[in-house]
Amino acid sequence: MKPYYLTTPIYYASGEPHIGHAYTTILTDTLARYRRQMGSQVEFLTGTDEHGQKMKEAATQKSMHPKELADKMAKNFKEAWVGLDISFDRFIRTTEDAHVDVVQNILNRLWEKQEIYADNYSGWYCIHEERYWTSREVGEEHVCPDCHRPVEYIEEKNYFFRMGKYQEKLLEHINNNPNWIVPETRRNEVLGFLNQPLEDLSISRPKTRLDWGITLPFDESHVCYVWVDALFSYVTGASFPSTQSKTLKNYCWPADLQVVGKDILTTHAVYWPTLLMASDLPLPKKILAHGWWLSKKTKMSKSIGNVIDPLQLREKYGTDAVRWYLLRDMRTGSDATFTEERFATRYEELANVLGNLASRTTSMVIKYRAGRLSEEIETELGEEIEQTLDNFQKHMDKLQVHSALGLAMDLARKTNVYIDKKEPWALAKDPDRTNSLDTVLGTLVRILTVLTTLLSPVMPEKMGALAKHIGLDKIPTFEDLNLALTTRSTLKSGAPLFPRDHL
Ligand code: MSP
Repeated sequence: MKPYYLTTPIYYASGEPHIGHAYTTILTDTLARYRRQMGSQVEFLTGTDEHGQKMKEAATQKSMHPKELADKMAKNFKEAWVGLDISFDRFIRTTEDAHVDVVQNILNRLWEKQEIYADNYSGWYCIHEERYWTSREVGEEHVCPDCHRPVEYIEEKNYFFRMGKYQEKLLEHINNNPNWIVPETRRNEVLGFLNQPLEDLSISRPKTRLDWGITLPFDESHVCYVWVDALFSYVTGASFPSTQSKTLKNYCWPADLQVVGKDILTTHAVYWPTLLMASDLPLPKKILAHGWWLSKKTKMSKSIGNVIDPLQLREKYGTDAVRWYLLRDMRTGSDATFTEERFATRYEELANVLGNLASRTTSMVIKYRAGRLSEEIETELGEEIEQTLDNFQKHMDKLQVHSALGLAMDLARKTNVYIDKKEPWALAKDPDRTNSLDTVLGTLVRILTVLTTLLSPVMPEKMGALAKHIGLDKIPTFEDLNLALTTRSTLKSGAPLFPRDHL
């Protein structure tokens, strides 16, 4: 059976990984881990986008060859992802031979089908965004409407992809599949964009202007436009058969989910599906477009200089706290503002609600029952648990990750209230109420078990530690949850999950 295939964007290797990349990647990782826990086999792709003018210029500035810079950055991205516990299965680099081969094969196919034609182009180009703009868009100041940098006027021969002819077919697809682009606000943006006539897309650059790219198989004097090259890496990453490997072994295109930021939605929801249609390849099943992390109301970005290094936060608070904050504090799909105060509030929630519940529970089971629970005990709060499990999955399936996490935290909060109400310390003093104490302790351990399952996709390391404290040898999958409630070894106390001295 085909695995559940999901992708992050393929990040530009011209700069260091930052919080924006980290957010997209942690979000995708959490969804990948959730799918694995639901019992699916998963293929999770990330990687680096290593061609194009931006890459060439960044390398020139550092007096490096672009490939040398790409090697360095691919390593930095990989290290950052390992540091943030990203469980990617495949890291693709667009300079890999297999990818070059796939792109040339597909371009050839498009050329033979006359989906590509040569023409002269004159117009404005923004190097930073790697894209053309019309005179109307750049205005009299001749600046890029997106990044506000000066644009260049260029006249050259280009190859064009007949994108315009797919406009109706794409509109039909979006209209017939209301959940193809989520959330709805982003889908509406794409529909708005498609209200204008869709133009053909320039897919090449003459080597006289830019030589750092994949050579067009039908014209040696041009390289492929970096966006077209990078988009097809999703197909290479799915083990698309190339001239070297003709087999369909492990082939897993189409993607089940492609996660992107709102700034690159047009390329993913317009260029990409039309290129796939022309190549006779199926479309991805879903595109999730998330918002931006802002700092003082502007997008955090390297060029603005207001970027926060996620790895620095990690040193202070731990990887899982960073993952928690980023996913919990941003409504999936909307923008959010990053502040250290919000970070501290979210960390407090981990320490005071979840960490507190875990340490109270383990210390009581150790103190009153020498770390062992009797197996045949009645438990309470059954309905709350079932409802949380049910609603958590509903929200995750709708890709509303922030609200799914909120539900799990609510269950922990309610359980702390339950402890205060039941006063197990009083029950422990009363020999007539031994059964009640067992019920309370059993309920608490059962809930912590459920919480390890719900929260391990976002906090894999801490939930692994919690599972050990409550006597499990591994975090249960959703299916194993009932079994895990009865089979466990002795509970052990351990270091606090979320130490308060960081606050
Ligand atoms: N190379 C292209 C993607 C090609 S995919 C075939 C690219 N790379 S990128 O390095 O610029 O990374 C883009 C990703 O980082 C997007 O998902 C984008 O939204 C995300 N972010 C960059 N800054 C961001 C924030 N401040 N906040 C959240 N995410 C943002 O585009």
